[in-house]
This record gives sequence, C-alpha cells and structure tokens, in this order.
Amino acid sequence: MYELDIERDVPLAPLTTLELGGPASYFVRAEREPTVVDALRWARAEGIPAAILAGGSNLVVPDAGYRGLVIQMAIGDLAFQRDGRVHAGAGVPWEAVVEGALARKWAGIECLTGIPGSTGATPIQNVGAYGQEVSEVVERVRVIHRDDLGVQHLAAADCGFDYRTSLFKQDPTRFVVTGVDFALRTDGEPTVRYAELERSLETPSPSLEEVRSTVLELRRQKSMVLDPHDPNRRSAGSFFLNPMVSDDEARRIVEQALREGLVDDSAEVPRYPVEAGRTKLAAGWLIERSGIAKGTRRGAIGVSTRHALALVHHGGGTTAELLGFAEEIRRRVEDRFGVRLEQEPRLLE
Ligand code: EPU
Repeated sequence: MYELDIERDVPLAPLTTLELGGPASYFVRAEREPTVVDALRWARAEGIPAAILAGGSNLVVPDAGYRGLVIQMAIGDLAFQRDGRVHAGAGVPWEAVVEGALARKWAGIECLTGIPGSTGATPIQNVGAYGQEVSEVVERVRVIHRDDLGVQHLAAADCGFDYRTSLFKQDPTRFVVTGVDFALRTDGEPTVRYAELERSLETPSPSLEEVRSTVLELRRQKSMVLDPHDPNRRSAGSFFLNPMVSDDEARRIVEQALREGLVDDSAEVPRYPVEAGRTKLAAGWLIERSGIAKGTRRGAIGVSTRHALALVHHGGGTTAELLGFAEEIRRRVEDRFGVRLEQEPRLLE
C-alpha cells in the first residue's frame, strides 16, 4: 500500500472547463496506476464512492460537489513505437498524442486535433470529429476492474464502441481506464470524409498537417478549441448528442422542415445515415430551428455564439442554472420536433 495523499474539500470547478460545481469531499491525484488501485481500495474501506476526474472538459459537477473520493487521473507515460503503435497513460493530454503522431507522419487521428481533455477519456466516449472516431485506431484499453482491482487489457472489439459511447461509458462502475494503446498508420494518408472539412481544404490531396490545421481552424470558428481569450471558452463542447432516429422519423422531420419553410430543399436538413434504418440528425440544427438562437442567454449561462450545441458558462453561475437551461432546450426541441436530446457530458454523481 502506497502512502495516499488525500486532501479534503477540494474545489472541483477550477478543474473543469465549465468552471462550475462544488468540492470533492476527498481528493487524490494519481500519477501512477498503483495509486489509483490504492485510492479505490481506500474508498471502498471507507464505504464511500470513488469517481475519476481527468481533463474535466466533458464533465458537469453538481453544485453540491461530490460526496466521495475524486481521483484525479494523472498517469502521464507516453511512448511512440516504430510501427505506428502508441501507448499513452490515461492522464496524457490528448493533443500530445495527436502532436506526436503528426510529427511522425502517422495517420488516423489528424482529424481529432484540438479536442480538449485526456487520452483516457477518448475510448470512454469514443471521441469523434470531422470523420474520424478514436475507436478506429484503439488497439486495446488498459483498465482496473473495480470489483477485484485487478489490471487487465480489453481489445478494441470488446470495448462496445459506438457513436460517442462504449462499455466504459455505459457501465462506469465496472472499469477505470488507466491507459490506451493505439495502432496508427505509418503510410501517412489523411482521412477526408467530413463534407465540411473537404470543402475547407485548399488542395485535392492534402498532407496530414494540412488536414490537421484545417480542422483546427474549423474548431476555432466554432469556439471548440480552448482559448483563454474566447468568450465562449467555459463549455464542455457539445452539450447534447446528435440524436439517432429511425429513417421514418427523419423523413417526418424533413417534411416538417419543408412544410414550415425552415428549408427550401430537403438536402438542407443536415443528417447522416449511420446504419440500416437509422439516421443521425444534427442537434445544433434542431436547437436553432426550435427558436434558440446562438448566443441566447439565461443569466450566467448561454448558448455559444458560435455553435448552438455548446452551452457556455459566462462566470458566476451555477450548475443548477446550466441544467435548467439544458432542460429548457430539451423541451423546446421535443415540443417542436418530437425528438428528445440526450446530454453528452458526464454528470459527476
Ligand atoms: N448546425 C446548425 N447550427 C449550429 C451548429 C450546427 O444548424 O449552431 C448544423 C451545421 O450547419 C451542420 C450540422 O449542424 O449542418 C452539423 O454541425 P457540425 O459540423 O458543427 O457538427 P455537430 O454535429 O454539431 C459533431 C460533434 C462534434 C464534432 C463535430 C465535427 C457530437 C455531439 N458533436 O458536432 O464533437 O467536433 O461533429 O465532427 O457528435 C463534442 O462531442 O464535444 C464535439 C465538439
């Protein structure tokens, strides 16, 4: 058993990008896997719950804080092997992995640049953007099993990856992710799959670096990179998932949009076929067309001025206000389009 340096009543708001929420009753920073194991064991012995906090960029902390042990994931080992394989500890900032890969001309994550947060979080919510998903390059995930505190590896095929979800997200009580092994492509061909990205690229066969800088520029325009000078900076990225609906429901919404004059042509309703019989709609589009314009404010909370899918904290607000506004948005979209939006960031509870 290692000596655990457990702190009391640690404010969590400064450790999140939303800068909201109360303190953790107990808090420990874990730079090594055995510290995580010991911390989990300590919490169990004390009879209190334990939760993991990493980059804090996709996390909503209740105003009452967390009555348990928060383990700050800070495992920071990062190794690039010759064949495109990368091992990263869960606490490694994700952008360090992207940068290291690009420096070696390794392909597979060039579209996933500019995403705030830690590497360990990427398989949990199967991070995706601009035509790539991290599940395409995850080889295996290193985890601590919360039952017996044993360490094991899960192959990508056993991680239950789907759109913004995984086994780890669906059952957060089972595993703690401590590291990820990636297999990237050393041939260096970038992925140009996302229509907006394709339109924005200046050359027909761009380099990895061009793809990366174009994605960064797109993200910047949407206030989706962390910039201390950006008034939309206090956010958790997309606050809602893009809803998956049946093809019939998607058709109904397109017909409604045409009937109500929201669009002139059905192609103007953004949607993507995902699997047989299912269509993914754009939540940002639904929110705006429900009458919630970019920049709409409710006190200290607002919709980003650059993207209707991001909720922004302007300072001095509370999580209750944030969740209240989120519920208002959800109701508006449901009343208008009959689609219930689901929250994307994790609620610490
Ligand atoms: N749209 C609007 N109004 C808005 C925002 C978007 O009408 O305010 C429309 C756009 O015009 C476009 C469509 O919605 O036709 C899609 O917008 P965008 O390309 O910005 O992507 P998104 O679906 O809103 C998703 C991810 C982002 C990711 C981008 C790019 C989710 C929940 N969000 O957003 O991921 O960066 O695609 O791939 O899937 C995140 O998860 O935090 C995140 C930022």
